[in-house]
Amino acid sequence: MSATRECRREGSTDRGTVVRSGGFSLVAESHPMRRRLQFMARYSLADKTVLVTGAAGGIGGASARALSARGANLVLVGRNSSSVAALARELGEERALPLAMDVTDPAAMEEAVGGAVDRFGRLDVVFANAGIAPERPATLATMDAEVFERIVEVNVLGVWRTVRASLPQIIANHTRPVDRSAA
Ligand SMILES: NC(=O)c1ccc[n+]([C@@H]2O[C@H](COP(=O)([O-])OP(=O)(O)OC[C@H]3O[C@@H](n4cnc5c(N)ncnc54)[C@H](OP(=O)(O)O)[C@@H]3O)[C@@H](O)[C@H]2O)c1
Repeated sequence: MSATRECRREGSTDRGTVVRSGGFSLVAESHPMRRRLQFMARYSLADKTVLVTGAAGGIGGASARALSARGANLVLVGRNSSSVAALARELGEERALPLAMDVTDPAAMEEAVGGAVDRFGRLDVVFANAGIAPERPATLATMDAEVFERIVEVNVLGVWRTVRASLPQIIANHTRPVDRSAA
């Protein structure tokens, strides 16, 4: 599926030629996203703290590993305590704090940010990545109301509660939230 997406992104667009580099699709020269990507590649993560929700999942786990390799301290939030604990052991427990928490719980998100500050002294970046999708493809007409509302609870309100709890640290440290939800 991701290969298909990458193929679709290759080729010419009205903003320049899309090229692939190291597994990522980059837009050449004229696209504003190029400057953003160049900035991100130069942004030093040494001694910075990043909170990743859904850290035990596919994108969250890969991101946590990449961020750790660039020197970041990680706060790994997920519902499954053994999964986030295993990832923390893999990354090195002195630089990774696993927290079993649900992003839909505002008090838990406040606690996660407090945990980041207690352990690492600061929080610089929050990656609000935790999310769910229906088990089978569905439309508004065919999806159960409960399933739809749970998706909104996690993918919209969970992101809002994660970012909201983090904002005082993010603003104080002049950094930023990242929303990777499907909502
Ligand atoms: N993969 C894609 O093609 C794609 C495309 C568009 C958007 N996205 C979005 O990108 C994000 C990550 O996708 P992914 O493919 O890495 O999904 P994934 O492998 O299913 O990982 C999602 C993670 O979020 C966690 N999570 C779910 N609900 C949570 C909650 N209430 N509190 C805390 N953690 C929770 C899950 O933990 P549990 O194991 O405990 O459930 C899981 O570890 C999701 O928001 C997804 O909707 C993905």
